[in-house]
Amino acid sequence: MSDILDLEASILREIDAAADEAALETVRVAALGKQGSLSALLKTLGSLPPEDRKSYGAAVNETRDRVTSALSTRKSVLKAAALEARLKRETVDITLSGRTDPLTAGRIHPVSQVIDEITAIFADMGFSVAEGPDIETDHYNFTSLNFPADHPAREMHDTFFFNPKEDGSRLLLRTHTSPVQVRTMEAQKPPIRIIAPGRTYRCDSDATHTPMFHQVEGLVIDRTSHFGHLKWILEEFLKAFFEVDEVKTRFRPSFFPFTEPSMEVDVGCKRSGGEIRIGEGDDWLEILGCGMVHPNVIRAVGLDPDEFQGFAWGMGIDRIAMLKYGMPDLRAFFDADVRWLNHYGFRPLDLPSLFGGLSS
Ligand code: DAH
Repeated sequence: MSDILDLEASILREIDAAADEAALETVRVAALGKQGSLSALLKTLGSLPPEDRKSYGAAVNETRDRVTSALSTRKSVLKAAALEARLKRETVDITLSGRTDPLTAGRIHPVSQVIDEITAIFADMGFSVAEGPDIETDHYNFTSLNFPADHPAREMHDTFFFNPKEDGSRLLLRTHTSPVQVRTMEAQKPPIRIIAPGRTYRCDSDATHTPMFHQVEGLVIDRTSHFGHLKWILEEFLKAFFEVDEVKTRFRPSFFPFTEPSMEVDVGCKRSGGEIRIGEGDDWLEILGCGMVHPNVIRAVGLDPDEFQGFAWGMGIDRIAMLKYGMPDLRAFFDADVRWLNHYGFRPLDLPSLFGGLSS
């Protein structure tokens, strides 16, 4: 019998010495597991003389009960200690200032904001958004828009050309969003009402020009749309965009190969103390180009100009963003300076809508 008590004493010592729950589990398995030391003792029962079996069996069972209860006591002690240690390790310093979450810290670039504003205004008038590639062919950027071959207007645009291909043709970075007019007329049937905001490129750089800039094109093609509609649309747009009740506009005759007649539009403004107020005043600010789509452009997309007509316009997005939000230097738009973005940027979830006020 003393072998049982010796074994029990040694197991109880090991239980006391177990430093964590994993070590305790090892002790448990070594004692009570299938191959454990106590289980081994029980297996010897069969070889004992019958008169000894009962008392030996009872002794082993008592030992097993004491070991089991010692295990569970030690287990709760170790568990409590582990929790205590973890709480110490994971203390939170509630006096630290909170970390700003991305929605608060992030900013929407003014160009993205203004594109969203423009889209909201024209969507309200029934326009959808069309797109075209930044890398264009000479055909879409110039020829289909009625630029004659070798016409100086091609050079006027300060085009970035790619190296010529073997057949002599050259791809280019689109100099305006007008190619999207042609692509749209080729892809869908009138009536067409689209705007096409996007990136455009010209070799130019100063406080109001960057080699990459943004334009938005507008196009309406059907059987009856005329210049009066164009004027109304543009004035409604300008009022909504600049968030004013009235705007004065001035349509000046101009020239674009793809429109006839062509106009440049000035908006009335007042300049005082380095500030420009749009809509009022006796000054004028040039804001966009427009016109009735040239019959040659309509013909080039396979429509009959005696049947279909319409108008188009093109406007610099960065420029109207600068005017609306008072940003003096266009180059800063693309410097990726986070201080500039913090100052002029917009909150991610403040989506512009006509209902909520575009820039509220
Ligand atoms: N594409 C012209 C430019 O980049 C702007 C323009 C003028 C677009 C008249 C038009 C338009 O659609 O009708 O300078």
